[in-house]
Amino acid sequence: MAFLDLLEIEEKGPGVSSGRRAEVERDIRRHRFYEHSSEELLWGSRFAWRHSVRCVGRIFWPQLEIQDARRVDSLDALAEACFKHLREATNGGVIRPMVTVLPPNRGAQAWRIWNYQLVRYAGYTAEGSGVLGDPSEAAFTQRCVSAGWQPPIHKSRFDVLPLMLSGPGLPERVFVLPQDCVLEVPLKHPDFEWFEEMGLRWYAVPVVSNMVLEIGGIQYPAPFNGWYMGTEIGARNLADTERYNLLPQIAEKMGVGERKETSLWRDRALVELNRAVLHSYKQAGVRMVDHHTAAQLHVRFEEEEQAEGRPVTGIWSWLVPPMSGALSPLWSRTYDETEYSPNFLYRE
Ligand code: ARG
Repeated sequence: MAFLDLLEIEEKGPGVSSGRRAEVERDIRRHRFYEHSSEELLWGSRFAWRHSVRCVGRIFWPQLEIQDARRVDSLDALAEACFKHLREATNGGVIRPMVTVLPPNRGAQAWRIWNYQLVRYAGYTAEGSGVLGDPSEAAFTQRCVSAGWQPPIHKSRFDVLPLMLSGPGLPERVFVLPQDCVLEVPLKHPDFEWFEEMGLRWYAVPVVSNMVLEIGGIQYPAPFNGWYMGTEIGARNLADTERYNLLPQIAEKMGVGERKETSLWRDRALVELNRAVLHSYKQAGVRMVDHHTAAQLHVRFEEEEQAEGRPVTGIWSWLVPPMSGALSPLWSRTYDETEYSPNFLYRE
């Protein structure tokens, strides 16, 4: 009933009739289950985003749109729903925050997307020579191959992985993403002409698909997306030593070599890589936020929440950006890490 209470006090929301309250109580008593109306599902999803303590982009929570896919009854239909999500969320680069809600987990029944995100690059483990592609996807890539996925003949660092889906009584199957579902951005630098020749790229829309949307005690598998903050790509995916680890190469090309730490070659390469990411997405017309603007918007979000009399929550190490941390207005704040319901949870 806590969810209905929350719906009730939400000014812009659909409200809750007394009849609806009685109905939910009765369904729970009889079946230990109830079904959300589409409005409840929409607002529950929005609250879940608002409560997401790791997300710096939460100010946009009222704009979340929903694809109600609770009637999915086959793996083909599930794949179609994922494709549709990607097309509609990508929106030619004008990215729309969106969640697709799948049939709820109920006892043995569970639909499942095994990918971490709907779009992700393969990581091929080659004997002796490390990983080609994204090392964080090496194990999953292997699983896809075992399940029958055929990688391209000429493997590259940026091969899009297939979806791996399963359902109640339906074993895993892989589905290759149609080309029109995946928008990508080739990376170039505003000043360094050689940068483009490195052949780097990243995809437009991060659709996290391994979390569970919990609303009023019911858990839905539910892939969701916002748009990227530049540093997710420039300061983590492409920079982390256990990911694409590109800083040594970029520093080399900049002529600031890997000689001594005091030259700050890592930091210099990091800044230029992040300039390239922001510049390329901008030029490609793909929505992206820089880490300064994102932090300022989070401050506004905190103010709004406070003004509404709601608790302000967050996890500091997730909200402060992975570069130039002390430049962020969030640096000197402390956060209550409570994860209120509804929320997006990690699957057990
Ligand atoms: N950090 C993840 C990545 O780099 C994406 C997580 C969700 N990010 C977002 N902006 N909604 O792919």
